[in-house]
Amino acid sequence: MRLDEAALVRWGSAIGAAIDPPVLIGLSGALGAGKSVLARAIGAGAGVPTKMPSPTYTLVQRYEGHEGRQVVHLDLYRIESPDELQELGWDQLGDTDEIVLVEWPERAGDLMPPDHWVIEIDAPAEAPSFRDIEVRRVGSPPPIAGFPMSVSGSP
Ligand SMILES: Nc1ncnc2c1ncn2[C@@H]1O[C@H](COP(=O)(O)OP(=O)(O)O)[C@@H](O)[C@H]1O
Ligand SMILES: [Mg+2]
Repeated sequence: MRLDEAALVRWGSAIGAAIDPPVLIGLSGALGAGKSVLARAIGAGAGVPTKMPSPTYTLVQRYEGHEGRQVVHLDLYRIESPDELQELGWDQLGDTDEIVLVEWPERAGDLMPPDHWVIEIDAPAEAPSFRDIEVRRVGSPPPIAGFPMSVSGSP
């Protein structure tokens, strides 16, 4: 589906409100695609009351959402090897109350947990204020109630 920024934020908030943790969502796409915009919208929908600055430098940020939900926002752009994930507390992620949002999930390589969602964001050259969004299921992640679009399994 193709969304302008306001629609993408609305869609993200709806997902954030519907998510029943634990769940891990990878956010894929080039620099400037809108991964952080979407992460922030999901966080807001899950009840995070603050702005959620981009974790580009800190690599990981943790927030408190509604009803004890934890929103963990990671940006792996700057890691040079998946080994560095241990220092971020990677092995402890995925606790029962956590919504884990990972920008640049491909940098985690094999260390991505087997069951998760991936949302791919692509900026179409012919429509610069829109984004094409595709949701992919990897393994058997927990369903997201009312995920308001069709999803495809991974190849
Ligand atoms: N339809 C859209 N959806 C999301 N972001 C958009 C859209 N159109 C333009 N933008 C802009 O694209 C930029 C995305 O930035 P950001 O989320 O930080 O990218 P990323 O985290 O993928 O590097 C923002 O400046 C945002 O305003
Ligand atoms: Mg970002």
